[in-house]
Amino acid sequence: MSGTLIVYQSRGGHTSRVTRRLMETLHAAGSACEMMDIVEAQQEGFDWDKYDTVIVGCPVLYGDFDKRIKAFIAENQDKLEARTNGFFCLSVVARNPVKATVEGNRYIQKFLAEQTWKPQNLKVFAGKVDYPSWGFFDSLSIKLIMKMTKGPTASDTVIDYTDWNEVEAFGLQIHQARTGDE
Ligand SMILES: Cc1cc2nc3c(=O)[nH]c(=O)nc-3n(C[C@H](O)[C@H](O)[C@H](O)COP(=O)(O)O)c2cc1C
Repeated sequence: MSGTLIVYQSRGGHTSRVTRRLMETLHAAGSACEMMDIVEAQQEGFDWDKYDTVIVGCPVLYGDFDKRIKAFIAENQDKLEARTNGFFCLSVVARNPVKATVEGNRYIQKFLAEQTWKPQNLKVFAGKVDYPSWGFFDSLSIKLIMKMTKGPTASDTVIDYTDWNEVEAFGLQIHQARTGDE
């Protein structure tokens, strides 16, 4: 066991970019790291013995996390708990600093309440708004959320709310958790 694996789900590609930045940060700090889409992880499986650290990440989609991510966690909770572990999620409501905290984010609070895995490393990131690449109904739903939370509703809006320094800081946190390095 000598590396980190980040298992992720991404619908529009933004969580993939966040995962890649985490992986690059771990590499730069000296930790071996790989990333794997949840479909590959579930369908093809992987050798858990290769990894001393497994991190899971996904966006909030319609108020919830992807069911494959939740199934992966439920099926592998013992393996996650036997390693350094962590979880991160993205959502547009987290562009509000209070909702970017674990305590202030109701999606992560619901997730923590409904299952028994308590991730050692936990992080909430703000995600991306990209109406032009989302379908009509998806855009409409997010515009409603935005209307309620006083966010942008113009159809040409593309805004990356992610704080990339925070992403790198979380990558370093994982590196430190698995190595004990300061
Ligand atoms: C179909 C859809 C539903 C979403 N539902 C929510 C939601 O309920 N709450 C929220 O805060 N953000 C929501 N978002 C915003 C996403 O969490 C955010 O855009 C994230 O960056 C998407 O990551 P991805 O590109 O990896 O799929 C939604 C986005 C889409 C496309």
